[in-house]
Amino acid sequence: MAPVVEPSGQLCGARVTGVDLSRPLAPEVVAQLRSAWLEHLVLAFPDQSIDDDDLERFTLYFGPFGEDPYIKPIPGREHVIAIRRRADETAPIFAESWHSDWSFQANPPAGTCLFGITIPTRGGDTLFADQHAALAARPAELRARLEGRLAVHSAAVSYAPSGLYGTNDQQAGRSMDIISSDAAQATQRHPIVRRHPETGRLGLFGCAGYVTAIDGLDDDESRELLSAWFRWQTREEFVYRHAWEPNMLIMWDNRSLLHRATGGYEGQERLLHRTTIGSVPAAS
Ligand code: SIN
Repeated sequence: MAPVVEPSGQLCGARVTGVDLSRPLAPEVVAQLRSAWLEHLVLAFPDQSIDDDDLERFTLYFGPFGEDPYIKPIPGREHVIAIRRRADETAPIFAESWHSDWSFQANPPAGTCLFGITIPTRGGDTLFADQHAALAARPAELRARLEGRLAVHSAAVSYAPSGLYGTNDQQAGRSMDIISSDAAQATQRHPIVRRHPETGRLGLFGCAGYVTAIDGLDDDESRELLSAWFRWQTREEFVYRHAWEPNMLIMWDNRSLLHRATGGYEGQERLLHRTTIGSVPAAS
C-alpha cells in the first residue's frame, strides 16, 4: 500500500498513514516518503507500534546517523537519545528556544526523528518555523543585508559548563542526560542565506540558540542585524504547531526549519526517543 499524505493545512507539515514502520519499507515507499518529507518538511506518522530498532532502521532510510555530542544515548544504544521530563521536574523545559539541531557542527544534520512514548494530555506541542517562507517574505532591504554573509555558530550558550545546560542546570535535577563540555566553545561559519542541498530552495539558516555573531561585522552592527533576523524568522505566519499523540513518530528537516519545544504540561511526564539523520550530500 502506498503512503497516504495529508497536508496539515498550515504552512508545512503532513500526516502520513498507510505505512507500518515496525517492518522494513520497500525502496519505492522510502522514495515516496523522502519526496513527501522534502515537500512538507515535517511528516507525522500516527499509531506506530515501534521499538528502538525500528526507529533506527527508519532513520537510516534517510541518511547516516548524525552525531549527538551533548546528550548521552539511552542505555544499550549508540544513536537514540531520550527527550524526557518527569512529572515533578522544575528545571526549565529542554529546547524551548528556537533552533536547528546542532547547527554549530561543520556538517549539521539533515533531519531529526522523534517518537512519542509518553505524551501528556495537554501542552507539550512542538513548534516549527519554515525558513524558506521566512526568507521569501523578507523585505528586500533586510534580505540584502543578510545575503552573502556568514553566521558564527557555537554551542557555548547552551552546552558549555557555564551555559544554559551546564553545571548549574545539572544541579537543578534535570532528568535528561546532558553532557556539558568546553568543546562547546568551538565555532563554525555557515551562510545565512543557504541553498537546501536536496531541493535547491533558498532559506535562512541559523537561530538565536546557536548563532553568536555575523562574520566580518563589528559587535554593534552584528547584534542589531541578528536581532532583526531572529525577530523576523519566527513570526507567527511561518510557524506550524505540531500536536503530539502517543505512538506518533515525526521527522523534520533541519535544513529548512527551526523548531522549539513548549511546556504547559506541568504535573505530567513526557518521554520521546530521538535519532538524528546526518548530513546528506548535495544533489548533483
Ligand atoms: C527537540 O528539540 O528535539 C525537542 C522537541 C520537543 O521536546 O518538543
